Amino acid sequence: MTKKFFVTTPIYYVNDVPHIGHACTTIAADILARSHRQRGEEVFFLTGTDEHGAKIAQAAEKEGLSPLEFCDKIAPQFEENWKKLDISYDYFIRTTNPEHEKVVQALILKIKENGYIYDATYKGWYCVGCEAFKTPDELVDGKCVEHPNKDLEWYEEKNWFLNLRKVIADNPTVFEKLAYSFPENKRNEMLGKIKIMENDVSISRANVKWGIPIPWDTEQTVYVWFDALINYYSATRFVDGKAEFWPADVHLVGKGINWFHSVIWQGMLLAAGIDIPKKVFAHSHYNTAGQKMSKSLGNVIAPFELVNKFGVDATRYMIAKSFPENDDSDITWEKLTETYNADLANNLGNLVSRLAALAEGLEIDKKEIKISIEYLEKIDNFALPSACEWVFKNYIDPINQKLNEVKPWKLEANDPVRITFLKESIGNLLIATHHLKPIMPNAAKDIIEHFERKIEKKQTPVFARI
Ligand code: MSP
Repeated sequence: MTKKFFVTTPIYYVNDVPHIGHACTTIAADILARSHRQRGEEVFFLTGTDEHGAKIAQAAEKEGLSPLEFCDKIAPQFEENWKKLDISYDYFIRTTNPEHEKVVQALILKIKENGYIYDATYKGWYCVGCEAFKTPDELVDGKCVEHPNKDLEWYEEKNWFLNLRKVIADNPTVFEKLAYSFPENKRNEMLGKIKIMENDVSISRANVKWGIPIPWDTEQTVYVWFDALINYYSATRFVDGKAEFWPADVHLVGKGINWFHSVIWQGMLLAAGIDIPKKVFAHSHYNTAGQKMSKSLGNVIAPFELVNKFGVDATRYMIAKSFPENDDSDITWEKLTETYNADLANNLGNLVSRLAALAEGLEIDKKEIKISIEYLEKIDNFALPSACEWVFKNYIDPINQKLNEVKPWKLEANDPVRITFLKESIGNLLIATHHLKPIMPNAAKDIIEHFERKIEKKQTPVFARI
């Protein structure tokens, strides 16, 4: 039976058009999805938009639109952006989809039936930017760390609560280890946070009209995060033939929403009696000059600007090469251009055009190429900068080096030494290219098409220097 693989990105808030922070998560998930397809697995790659809640309602009001009109305007912009970046998602979920709404209501009812929901009054500071209550220890100078230029709102209202502390007590083997949560340093942060956790999770809102009604209390709507997290599961219920993809193999998220994905989501699922996902991976953030890149801070780089300047494959490569898998990474146009010129224009692109010119007329046999296990482990662990380096260190650099040593251009065209050397170098270039295929699908396809047969005189796929 074909192995199944289900990978998700966070569903993005529609109050913002995508910037390269969003793009890095989506590209990394796409690389993983493509790599698993390359391994012959049946993949379900899910992304989408998070459309309910106070933040979206406020953004819609600012534009003089109803919340749904506003979402209908922005959600397609995400799809367009993802298409420009060659994101091969299988389904794009929107939380305003009535099929999703039904699953949310059924799940919340199930949790209530299982005795994990109670009502109480909530008092506390709320950050609309995060759509989350903030405890005093999470604030710096009375402000949210992620949204320092936004004022917090004081909430005091009756809410429905998920008894997270009881779920945790009832499932000690899950919450004592969080064995599915990666990387380890971020898992430890979550474990520490569980230890000092004092509150359960409020899962409804009395004053937010833009949301899914609580089935037994229509005065209240479902808290936007509770609604949003369920997208991962709901899609497997209503997208045809996808039920057997649950539980998800990987939820890829940014570190800012790790708590929701590594703790609250598991609490919700266990309370409903549903299997939990196999892995949550929380990456770090892109910064510009030390600050998190975000629309509210006004320091964003838009993915389409990169595509316009460098092309889609180079954009994907540069994002993979700078992917903040573990630590925050500072990103600037200068650094991106440097990577482009060093790795793609001067190195890979130059090698491709030199080999193409030297090997014109040669016939290259198509060979079965095995992707290295060591490389696949890097992809599976989102060690994308190191995966990129691995290809250059093991293939591109040695081929270039040998080319300069052997100097085939000094040998006669029919010299067997020259022919054997070129065939071997092109064979290695093709191995490198098959490894790079999930990262640069089009460039890889062009290179493979150029070399995996009789090499003709024609324009080779190169990355021009910028
Ligand atoms: N809607 C919620 C997620 C719900 S998932 C059930 C949300 N949306 S968001 O639009 O704010 O997107 C957050 C995600 O975008 C982060 O988890 C991360 O994947 C990505 N990034 C946003 N800014 C980023 C950076 N500056 N750097 C890297 N990734 C960042 O939260």
